[in-house]
Amino acid sequence: MTHVGYAPGKLLLSGEHSVVYGHPAIALPVSLGVSVYLEPTDRPLELPNIDPRLSAAWRSVLPSFGYRVRIETNLPIGKGMGSSAALSIATLRALASAKGFTPTFAWLYEKGFEIETHFHGNPSGVDHALCAMEQSLWYEKDGPKLEPFGIPTLRLLIMDSGTKGNTGELVAGVRARHPQNESILDKIGDLTQEIGHTLKAPHPDMKHLGSLLHQNHIQLQALGVSTPTLDHLVDTAIKAGAYGAKLSGAGGGGIALALVENSEPIADAIQKIGYDCFTIETHTPKESL
Ligand code: PMV
Repeated sequence: MTHVGYAPGKLLLSGEHSVVYGHPAIALPVSLGVSVYLEPTDRPLELPNIDPRLSAAWRSVLPSFGYRVRIETNLPIGKGMGSSAALSIATLRALASAKGFTPTFAWLYEKGFEIETHFHGNPSGVDHALCAMEQSLWYEKDGPKLEPFGIPTLRLLIMDSGTKGNTGELVAGVRARHPQNESILDKIGDLTQEIGHTLKAPHPDMKHLGSLLHQNHIQLQALGVSTPTLDHLVDTAIKAGAYGAKLSGAGGGGIALALVENSEPIADAIQKIGYDCFTIETHTPKESL
């Protein structure tokens, strides 16, 4: 019998990189995700040839005999939308199904951490915590502190820079420039706190939120994880009328997000300069959290 596990991708609204140093991050699930199928065979473990780090991660948790792994995904891979964490958690859910138990959050979080370290040595844990919880999250690495974080409906334009960033290398680069970059990380921490307060207001001020997201991008630029293309996408979106925009995820490529009222003119501007984009809306009801 084939066993399947699913996990959604994520967006980091704020707190990438600074979360590795104990500051908070706000992460949102998206309706795109990854399914991992474990198909029974009578041969040694067969893996799709995607990435050697992924193969090592799979070999570390799956039985060495009796399954072929197949994946289906509509989540852009390696673009800062948490694809490695989604693959990890989806694999663990398929494995739990094969072993006949219902995975707890604690098991997914602990095992997910082990798998994520194959991708980048020092993960904060926010990506796979979000994948395992499947709801918007306020996350702090120390503890860890994980709080469901209800947010209002936000319309976000996701803009694809067309290249992939290497999370492990980017995190290591920030570490190599530490502690000289500490004040930048602190500023991102403060901005995340203010973004959190703004989102919790009864009627969040979108202009203010957009400005905070843009300030966050400027700090990520100063941290050295943006690229000229990401900067161009952010500037183009703001000039076309977005409330604000920032890179999202580790940077070095991947995606940027823009907070928008009406995505059409902004999507047109992004497509005119030659980049793909799509709109998503967040849907976490405040009352339920
Ligand atoms: O690019 P992604 O989706 O892997 O996001 C990484 C987020 C970082 O803060 C840069 C790293 C981490 O472990 O939190």
